[in-house]
Amino acid sequence: MGNCSRSPATQLSSTETRQVEAESQSKDESEVNIDLEHAKQEFEAKYAQSSKQTAKIEDFQLETTIGTGTFGYVVLAKYENRSLALKIMEKHVIVELGQVEHILSEKHILQAINFPFIVTFICAFKDNAHLYLALEFASGGEMFVHFRNMKQLPEDQVQFYASQIVLAFEYLHNLNIIYRNLKVEEILFDADGYLKLTDFGFAKVVQERTYTLCGTPEYLAPEIITGIGHNKSVDYWALGILIYELTVGVTPFQDEDPMRIFTKILQGSFNIPGYFASDIRDLLSKLLQTRPLQRYGNLQNGVDDIKNHPWFSSINWESLLKKRIKAPYIPEPDKHHYETYEEKELIHAETELYPTEFDSF
Ligand SMILES: Nc1ncnc2c1ncn2[C@@H]1O[C@H](COP(=O)(O)OP(=O)(O)OP(=O)(O)O)[C@@H](O)[C@H]1O
Ligand SMILES: [Mg+2]
Repeated sequence: MGNCSRSPATQLSSTETRQVEAESQSKDESEVNIDLEHAKQEFEAKYAQSSKQTAKIEDFQLETTIGTGTFGYVVLAKYENRSLALKIMEKHVIVELGQVEHILSEKHILQAINFPFIVTFICAFKDNAHLYLALEFASGGEMFVHFRNMKQLPEDQVQFYASQIVLAFEYLHNLNIIYRNLKVEEILFDADGYLKLTDFGFAKVVQERTYTLCGTPEYLAPEIITGIGHNKSVDYWALGILIYELTVGVTPFQDEDPMRIFTKILQGSFNIPGYFASDIRDLLSKLLQTRPLQRYGNLQNGVDDIKNHPWFSSINWESLLKKRIKAPYIPEPDKHHYETYEEKELIHAETELYPTEFDSF
């Protein structure tokens, strides 16, 4: 990430106090940049040497299912006396859905990244019929559930959450990783009310652009739909959708008919409620910009254009990264924050299924 080309001092009033704030702010930014450099080296070392199988299913005490998805289900489990989330995927489902590459990429990336607002990888292993990803358990539940109860969130709360996503994207994009899966179901709460992004099933290391159609219809950027090739800027489009959804209560291009969702996205026109203040209007128009070359996050200053946007002016990025800001919602401790699901049985296979396909898992 390049340094911010605008001096922070020029954004602030000329009073002395403000200048002091500006100087400390710019110091904060350079500290964040140094960390990014270090993060890249760490990632590259781990990515070059993918982790080896370090556990077996018998080492885990499976408790309750806390989530399901297209590719697998996630079970709360005990391993070496700690609680964790075990994502269990049946090999045959992955092969039938043509998702082998995505799952290999998910594991390869997860085992090499490390960021406060992303679930931490613990280990990965496989047996004859399954693949397993053991992840840190985010105990506070899905943003989806909290949001469903709240219906809409006040702007300052949305700022608190969106700014963590911005930092997670800054971290990932610096490693040339596109996430491509932003939605309220994949944003989890930790016990302290900070976020943990999960489900790296669509994440990919991309140097220039990529062409696969993947993601959730309401969050897809226009260039994913048209298939002309896309880059990291699709994550910033999705960030615009998320900010809109959390603030308004619905996504901007919602429709019962999925084809009409796509038409609306390609047209790129959406209604901003009259009560929206000018800052959020302006930021949304810059993120939900149909032309990727003009989209915020994808211009010369990269993510700094977003971080320096007036809508985020109350966020101290360094304090946020260090979790020094009190979260607006702290999940009730000792409560189970996940929905109830029907429990699935592990399947049995006499011999190893798809050994070649999943060789590198
Ligand atoms: N580390 C975690 N801690 C707690 N819950 C989790 C964790 N990881 C995933 N979950 C829960 O399990 C659900 C399913 O996991 P995940 O999204 O990774 O599966 P998937 O099959 O890839 O889903 P999708 O259909 O969205 O691609 C999540 O939406 C979330 O509710
Ligand atoms: Mg998912």
